[in-house]
Amino acid sequence: MLADVVPYLQCPLCAGDLAVAGTTLRCSAGHAFDIARQGYANLLTGRANLGTADTLEMVAARADFLGGGHFAPLSELIAERAAALDQGEGCVLDAGAGTGHYLAAVLDRLPGRPGVALDISKHALRRAARAHSRIGALAWDVWRPLPVRTGAVSVLIDVFAPRSGAEFHRVLRPGGALIVVTPAAHHLGELVGRLGLISVDERKADRVAESVGERFALAGAWSLEVPLSLTRSEVLSLVGMGPSARHTEPAVLRARVADLAEPVRVTAAFEVRAFEAREAAAFDVRSKS
Ligand SMILES: C[S@@+](CC[C@H](N)C(=O)[O-])C[C@H]1O[C@@H](n2cnc3c(N)ncnc32)[C@H](O)[C@@H]1O
Ligand SMILES: [Zn+2]
Repeated sequence: MLADVVPYLQCPLCAGDLAVAGTTLRCSAGHAFDIARQGYANLLTGRANLGTADTLEMVAARADFLGGGHFAPLSELIAERAAALDQGEGCVLDAGAGTGHYLAAVLDRLPGRPGVALDISKHALRRAARAHSRIGALAWDVWRPLPVRTGAVSVLIDVFAPRSGAEFHRVLRPGGALIVVTPAAHHLGELVGRLGLISVDERKADRVAESVGERFALAGAWSLEVPLSLTRSEVLSLVGMGPSARHTEPAVLRARVADLAEPVRVTAAFEVRAFEAREAAAFDVRSKS
């Protein structure tokens, strides 16, 4: 619930403390933010750039596919790493949380700990808000300074979502853990050519390191391959929840998927990296940002 995470948040306008006041979150200076009926709070002010927000259809496809348990080995790996690296205090933060699927798995491993789900899609937030009893979900743009107190976070997870190295570092406790999941170069490789999917950038690993920068030290890296055996309808959900859904006509995609023979065998491949937040004195933020 939102009340569980409020002590870890700050007003995005004045950095003051926030408290639940009826159907709003309110700071001591009087800035107020609506709490939606579905349980998430909207902290965004001004013109939000919603261009990268997952649509209703993408979120429904994601909920269907993840709910089928196909990526369970990834949830387990993230939760296990998070539990191993957790410092025993502070909240868990999921940047670009989507439906809250992975955050819920982490919270299951960390009894009593609150989890903040940030996303820019209200469709995703509606689901994230009820994905776990200890999740507080917030509409926020990860490219803006985060509405989270400095040093409030013990573990921050970022799964297939935007990354902001400087802000991630600020909100993490010194020594706190950042866990980043990206697709490996051959993710869904069997489908890329046949369905005309967007292929994964070969330089993704370098880009992760560049985006988190000198503020973080690599603490571990794991490659995970998950062989999948899917129905055509599951393939549609898998493709529908990813970036290709924005670039391919649904009718064209459906026609291509209809040509696939069941079961459709495909390999999901992930790169999971854990970083430790370095003490500020250990790096020079002026030389690189
Ligand atoms: C590929 S989905 C991954 C969702 C979730 N982490 C998962 O793996 O199930 C990317 C998510 O990032 C969200 N997103 C995109 N741009 C964002 C931004 N600037 N700030 C916050 N969330 C953003 C989308 O709405 C979407 O839910
Ligand atoms: Zn305020």
